[in-house]
Amino acid sequence: MNLPIIAPSILAADFANLEREVKMLNESEADWIHVDIMDGVFVPNISFGIPVTEAIHRHAKKPLDVHLMIVQPERYVEAFRKAGAEVISVHVEACPHLHRNLQQIKLLGAKAGVAINPHTSITELENVITDIDVVCMMSVNPGFGGQKFIENTYRKVAALKEMIARAGAKTLIEIDGGVNQQNAKPLLEAGASILVAGNFVFSANDPKEVISNLKQSEIA
Ligand code: DX5
Ligand code: ZN
Repeated sequence: MNLPIIAPSILAADFANLEREVKMLNESEADWIHVDIMDGVFVPNISFGIPVTEAIHRHAKKPLDVHLMIVQPERYVEAFRKAGAEVISVHVEACPHLHRNLQQIKLLGAKAGVAINPHTSITELENVITDIDVVCMMSVNPGFGGQKFIENTYRKVAALKEMIARAGAKTLIEIDGGVNQQNAKPLLEAGASILVAGNFVFSANDPKEVISNLKQSEIA
């Protein structure tokens, strides 16, 4: 049995009680903590930045998976690495020199991720697929938590899985947006192995139980 990596998104946490929320994740079966950085330019919302990421890292016992929804991410990649990021994802739509961005992230000793919007074709990734550790496939339009899952994601995941296999790459597929107990299993069956979940986890009465249930979604 192959268990997925579960990465709860701290964007949906209670920001006035971040320490408590991070400690809850430490005690849970979560594998990573997903950290959403929004600049109000690449996406129509602003979340938080480097000092808050550092504060999360101070209490976290799990790797930080930092999702940069920002323009010119190369200006901030090093700062987020120093703030504790283990995985850093930049958006393909924000990177005219994506290969260079991936090299920069790897040189800093982090795992290199590429996030891709719902409308963007996976062919954009074909020539760099062997250089990508994680593809963060957006299953909602980035900018806000709590949105409805876009069903076309299943087809996209399956096609990306095929592309990865064809290239003999070890790239992992992460799904970000609207993930819940219903779509978790079909997403894993289509080829995903990392599930991000914000609202579904943090709006639950017992977030640790929800995380545990997601973790038990088997990969066939
Ligand atoms: C969306 C963010 C997601 C979001 C997921 O822009 O990248 O990581 O926090 O939240 P839910 O699971 O509520 O869609
Ligand atoms: Zn995200």
